[in-house]
Amino acid sequence: MSTRTQRESTTTTAGASRETLAFLKWPGAKGRVVHHLLARAPERFGVYHEPFLGSGALFFALRPAEARLSDLNAELINCYTVVQREVDALVRELKRHPHTERHYYTVRAQDRHLLSPVQAAARTIFLNKTCFNGLYRVNKAGRFNAAFGDHRNPRICDEQKLRTAARLLTGAELDVRPFESVLECARRGDFVYLDPPYCGAAEHDTFGKYTPEGFRAVDHDKVLAVVRALDRRGCWVMVSMPDTRAVRAAYSAYEVQGITVRRLIACKASARRPVRELIVTNYRPCERGQGQRDSECSAPQHRGRRIESPMRRLQCGQASTRLQGS
Ligand SMILES: C[S@@+](CC[C@H](N)C(=O)[O-])C[C@H]1O[C@@H](n2cnc3c(N)ncnc32)[C@H](O)[C@@H]1O
Repeated sequence: MSTRTQRESTTTTAGASRETLAFLKWPGAKGRVVHHLLARAPERFGVYHEPFLGSGALFFALRPAEARLSDLNAELINCYTVVQREVDALVRELKRHPHTERHYYTVRAQDRHLLSPVQAAARTIFLNKTCFNGLYRVNKAGRFNAAFGDHRNPRICDEQKLRTAARLLTGAELDVRPFESVLECARRGDFVYLDPPYCGAAEHDTFGKYTPEGFRAVDHDKVLAVVRALDRRGCWVMVSMPDTRAVRAAYSAYEVQGITVRRLIACKASARRPVRELIVTNYRPCERGQGQRDSECSAPQHRGRRIESPMRRLQCGQASTRLQGS
């Protein structure tokens, strides 16, 4: 998106859906708490950015007209790209996968780099639907190593969901890149949602190893630096974080609200008990009734002072409101 005219297209969250149409199970996925995120999303914004995409729970609930979606996991982004561009071929390929343990381990042993993008995407979805607990986990060599899940009747090919996802991805740019490169493309008035892997606090560990390198404490310092830079730029910023004292202290300049989350994907059943998470925003979110938000909430805050947002002007009648799937 390069021209000024294109940049001024605006999404409104008024018709966004609580139901997420995410087609992958993902460790740390926000599907079950997406209503908390939706309720705190800005009412109008420019482009939506999600640089820790995972299963994209918020993207699929928000259904923005224009989005930049990225993740460091190349296998994941290939899957989205194929859904977006080659959904027919993907559906055909997925229907070829039988649900047997033997086939699972044969597919798991394949080197995805030797497959076509469509075959690789079908492999990702097949393994995701049939592995133990939907747990995406790779070893140091970057190879998927979750065990067979023994599901009764997994929906390996949910054709309708995939086709809906393809439609919702029409206006999305997809990239494999580190989260901090969001700074290269996010502009004033855009909405950026950051959901980094949680590590450190055992009860919050999202367990899955999404990338061979993992995510370290130093990366969390970078997340905070990115949040500050986006805030200064006038973006709407929302971050999901574990509820720890250190996180509350680090983000004390922003709005911080706690929610309870029940984890569905964890190694042990005991780790699936409810945990507290934080939703951090650089603006004051309002719980919306019927998609309404009071005007006090219409501009991101910057260091305690309300900054003038271009969205204010758009709200006064200039907005071209486009929302997919509504
Ligand atoms: C907690 S998950 C995101 C879950 C997502 N919100 C959802 O609803 O499914 C974190 C994601 O960050 C990705 N990731 C890890 N390190 C990254 C990095 N340095 N840059 C970008 N993405 C990264 C992982 O591959 C993983 O998909």
